[in-house]
Amino acid sequence: MDYNSFLDLVKQRRTIRRFKPDPLPDDYVDKIIEAARWAPSGYNSQPWEFVVIKDKKLKDDVFNTIARQRPTGGSGFAQTEDYRESWMRQKSLPWLDPEMEYQNAPVFILLYGDTRTQLGLPMVVRYDPYMKQSIYTSSLANAFLYMHLAATTLGLASQWVSLVASPNNHLRLKGLLNIPAGIDVYDMMALGYPAHKSRPKLMRPADKMVHRDFFGEEDFRTDEEVRDFIKRTRAWVSANHRRGVDKKMVG
Ligand SMILES: Cc1cc2nc3c(=O)[nH]c(=O)nc-3n(C[C@H](O)[C@H](O)[C@H](O)COP(=O)(O)O)c2cc1C
Repeated sequence: MDYNSFLDLVKQRRTIRRFKPDPLPDDYVDKIIEAARWAPSGYNSQPWEFVVIKDKKLKDDVFNTIARQRPTGGSGFAQTEDYRESWMRQKSLPWLDPEMEYQNAPVFILLYGDTRTQLGLPMVVRYDPYMKQSIYTSSLANAFLYMHLAATTLGLASQWVSLVASPNNHLRLKGLLNIPAGIDVYDMMALGYPAHKSRPKLMRPADKMVHRDFFGEEDFRTDEEVRDFIKRTRAWVSANHRRGVDKKMVG
C-alpha cells in the first residue's frame, strides 16, 4: 500500500451517527475484529475482548441502559453542562435525540479490556498507576481505531459510544451481559450502513501544531486561539450529531 491510499483511508474514516437498519453480512464483523487483533499493545499484552451484539432485544436493552444517562434520562449529563464556563456554553443539546440515534444500527461491538493482563507489564510500569493505565487504555484505543478503519474499508458507518464506560452504565451492562470481574468496558462501536454522507471535517491547521527543533512558547497557540477553536469545534460537533435528523442535512 502506498502513502496516498493510506491517507485516503484515514480521511474517509468519519463518525456517522445514523444507520440504516439493514443487517450486515456475517463476515464483516469477523473482518473488523481480525484487524483489531493486530493492533499494537503495550508489551504485546493484547488486553482486548470483543462482545458482539446483534440480537434486537439485547441491543434495545443496551441502548436503553445508556439512554438513561442522556439529557432526557435525567442522569446529570445536561445538568452538569449548566456549570460550564459561559463563553463556550451552547443554548441546548438538541442533537441528543434517542429516537434518532444509533439504536438502528444492526450491530453493536463492545470492546472490553482484561485488567489481569496488566500483571505482565514491566514492573516499573505495573507499579506506576499512571503508566499502567495509559499503556492499557492506549492499547485498547489502538484496537478500537483499527476497528473503525476496517469498518470504513467495508463501506460501513461506525460510531463511538463512550457513555458505556460511565460507572453506572459500565456496571449495569456488566450485569446485563454477564461480564466477569476484572473485565472492564473500554468503548462501544455502533456499526451499520450509513444513512447519510459525512460533511467536511473542521480541522486545525498544521502550522501551529508542529514544533521543530528549537522553538519557544510563542510557537504554540495563544489562550484566545485555543478558546476560538473550542467554540468552533463544539458547534461543528453539535451540527454533526444532528446530521440526518434535520432533513436538509441528509445526503
Ligand atoms: C475517544 C473518543 C470518544 C468519542 N466518543 C464519542 C461518543 O461517545 N459519541 C459520539 O457520537 N462520538 C464520539 N466520538 C467521535 C468524535 O466526536 C469524532 O471522532 C470527532 O467529532 C471527529 O469527527 P470524525 O470522527 O468524523 O473525524 C469519540 C471519538 C473519540 C476519539
